[in-house]
Amino acid sequence: MFFDRERELGKLLRLVSAEPNLITFVYGPINSGKTALMAEFVKRLSDEYVVFYINLRGRFVNSYEDFMKVLFSVREGSSKELLAELLKSGLAYGGIPVPEKLFKKLMEEETEDAFLFLEGYFEKLRGRGKRPVLILDELQVIGDLRIDGPLIYRLFNFFVHLTKETHLSHVFVVTSDSLFIERVYSEAMLQGRADYFLVDDFDRETALAFLKSVGLKDDEAEIVWDHFGGKPVYLAEAPKHRDELKEWCRGELEDKVSWLVFSLNSLKKSKPELFKGILELFDKFRESEAAGCDELSDSILWAVKNNLLFLNPRKRLLRPQGRLELLAIRKVLGVV
Ligand SMILES: Nc1ncnc2c1ncn2[C@@H]1O[C@H](COP(=O)(O)OP(=O)(O)O)[C@@H](O)[C@H]1O
Ligand SMILES: [Mg+2]
Repeated sequence: MFFDRERELGKLLRLVSAEPNLITFVYGPINSGKTALMAEFVKRLSDEYVVFYINLRGRFVNSYEDFMKVLFSVREGSSKELLAELLKSGLAYGGIPVPEKLFKKLMEEETEDAFLFLEGYFEKLRGRGKRPVLILDELQVIGDLRIDGPLIYRLFNFFVHLTKETHLSHVFVVTSDSLFIERVYSEAMLQGRADYFLVDDFDRETALAFLKSVGLKDDEAEIVWDHFGGKPVYLAEAPKHRDELKEWCRGELEDKVSWLVFSLNSLKKSKPELFKGILELFDKFRESEAAGCDELSDSILWAVKNNLLFLNPRKRLLRPQGRLELLAIRKVLGVV
């Protein structure tokens, strides 16, 4: 079951109804519902669109071959048959469908040719009256991979070409990694060529409505909100724990606190300076839910990498990834 997000869906649908112009970076804290939102968005697109949805979650991309296997999906049938199939379904999950022979040929060439092939492919779709939409989820997995220079820059260049220059395809890059977004945001090459779309946890009113829609009573919904705020993953899980709701909430918080206590205590011995810095950082959240951030210190990097804090580079704001993390940080301040 998918709940709400009507405002976000409206914005996304309006965005793709216009000519492609900017790369859209969809970002937000972990488990805020980015992937779920994009899946719902894809469902709502009319058959005028052809969507390529590539999720890099859990994929290890360490070579050109790995990357090509992510971008393309080798399938039975000729190019013509695969194209006809795609035009009918309007959706390709897991890469652009190509026959094995073609894939092998693309593998032998340099990346430029894969990009040229893709450009031609999108042109073909446009020629058939279709509007391509390319969605890459968890693109940060590519990390620092180099194929004749950093692959990510070549990709970004290609995406700029597909959007701003040729207006051939809409491009969405989805990520939960706020350090990746920070890098993107400060990248000169992308200035004026990228748009940022925040998908945040639900606000209180929407979260309570979500919980009531799955059968929770007012007081039960309040307990869940008090622990998890509007983090959709927990709101969706809550009905399964209805007969032991308080225990479940406390258990989840205890897990987070225990992890944090163990991690910090081990740092206390191995990296005392970092340990001190993290506690000073945490102290900012004793009474406040967000803190300004103008530079990335080691303690901020540690907290962001460990999914405790979310950095919004556009606002230069740091805040816990969710309410559970906020509560855990506050508990730990009295413990460690
Ligand atoms: N709008 C929604 N309605 C119902 N459940 C949702 C919604 N958004 C997210 N969820 C739930 O939360 C989980 C995490 O969301 P996901 O989209 O994977 O987060 P993200 O991609 O931001 O890390 C999903 O598996 C789903 O169970
Ligand atoms: Mg996701």
